[in-house]
Amino acid sequence: MREYSIALIPGDGIGVDVTREGKKVLDTVCQLDGGLSLQYESFEWSCEYYARHGKMMPDNGLELLKPFDSIYLGAVGYPGVPDHVSLWGLLLPIRRGFQQYINIRPVKLLRGIQSPLAGRGREDLDFIVIRENNEGEYSSIGGRMYEGTSQDMAIQSSVFTRQGVERVLRYAFKLAQEKGRRKRLTAATKSNGINHTMPFWDEYVHKINQEFPDVQTNIVHIDALAAFFVSRPDVYDVVVASNLFGDILTDLGAAIVGGLGIAPSANINPEKNFPSMFEPVHGSAPDIAGKGIANPVAAIWCTSMMLEHLGEEQLADAVMQAVEDVLEEGVAVTPDLGGKATTVEVGDAVCRKLRERLG
Ligand code: NAI
Ligand code: MG
Repeated sequence: MREYSIALIPGDGIGVDVTREGKKVLDTVCQLDGGLSLQYESFEWSCEYYARHGKMMPDNGLELLKPFDSIYLGAVGYPGVPDHVSLWGLLLPIRRGFQQYINIRPVKLLRGIQSPLAGRGREDLDFIVIRENNEGEYSSIGGRMYEGTSQDMAIQSSVFTRQGVERVLRYAFKLAQEKGRRKRLTAATKSNGINHTMPFWDEYVHKINQEFPDVQTNIVHIDALAAFFVSRPDVYDVVVASNLFGDILTDLGAAIVGGLGIAPSANINPEKNFPSMFEPVHGSAPDIAGKGIANPVAAIWCTSMMLEHLGEEQLADAVMQAVEDVLEEGVAVTPDLGGKATTVEVGDAVCRKLRERLG
């Protein structure tokens, strides 16, 4: 028996609905495979938990999560709790405490999805954004002074370290060399306007490139790169970006391949010293929470990335094939993609396709 333990953190809003479907898919995979067994423990950490306890998770939260092989998370954040409180109280401590310094965000047009970019098909839209996940612009260094006066001010410093920059670049270069990729790396910069950290970043792109001479490398300003995602997405293979740039670019990346309802992400600790965490790019979507119409595809895609990280590549692939079968059939499709199906109906349909493929 191949056994793995999974910590479930459904979180807030639609996070709860979409991870329920993801777990349903994983349960089906286990049933069909027979040799795979997943042990779950669920943690109720969320904005509701915050309302009761004054914190997003208990003080020993990371200790509780550490023994697990993987963490499967929905989304956190809800009106009533400031977004920086929910993010810094749960997600960021996990990403940082567990050295999940790589955030993988595929931008890939799935079978059955029409890109909003006219004339673009599956051969044009297939790249991966690697976002630095532990430092950069998302730092807690800074402060506020003179609040409530006419001199009111705030300062927040970015942090770029040699260790942090080298390791994310090396990961991205290696990925560009992997089987199935095109040995092209694009690094997002803004070294014209941000004249300390971004030239530093660019310098290390050139330096690490020397270790990977067969990878064709470009450094592109983030503003131009955002436009190129729309005007010529076909040239990209692996894109590497700092924490903030990667965050913004990947909502755009999601939009060109069908929207936030589809986009998955993996927070990876490559050394496997700590559990990695899998979560959709989207948030808790208070505008549609409780309506049962959230698209679970992003969360289901996350389960495929989790299976891959656990070494279950064939099952990971089967899950994605089943998802694409459902999208291509076009019946169990949620309103964000123009359909009428519910979250549960999409999850059920994916399980049905899995049974057809693996049963
Ligand atoms: P959001 O991603 O929750 O929603 C943006 C828009 O996309 C909304 O119109 C929503 O209905 C739609 N949408 C998102 N996911 C969808 C899905 N699966 N199916 C169909 N439609 C979907 O981002 P927003 O509104 O900026 O943030 C809402 C809350 O979520 C905030 O509290 C924010 O801090 C939090 N958040 C949490 C994240 C996380 O836990 N990783 C990431 C982003 C936001
Ligand atoms: Mg984001």
